[in-house]
Amino acid sequence: MPKVTFIEHNGTEHSVDAEVGKSLMQIALDNLVPGIDADCGGECSCATCHIMVKADWLDKIGTPSDAEDSMLDLNPEREPSSRLACQIEVTEIHDGLTVDLPEFQF
Ligand code: FES
Repeated sequence: MPKVTFIEHNGTEHSVDAEVGKSLMQIALDNLVPGIDADCGGECSCATCHIMVKADWLDKIGTPSDAEDSMLDLNPEREPSSRLACQIEVTEIHDGLTVDLPEFQF
């Protein structure tokens, strides 16, 4: 089972087992990782599952869809590595994935 790590804004790390086929958002919720609100339940319509992917993982994560890109544009703290965690489905290649959590979700 892949391991993924969420790093809170204050530096606290949460390394968790990630069930293949689940979204990164769901994995965070399942493991009580703070900092992911996921108000829309994963429908790509709230952007409260904002994360920043570590630079060395961007190639493996891929690029956001047009819908995700539009939602990310609404976030004043969007960064080049920003993604919505509900739109990333974990596979075996994501073992070791590390993402940063923002200070606040908007
Ligand atoms: S949970 Fe709402 S956009 Fe990801």
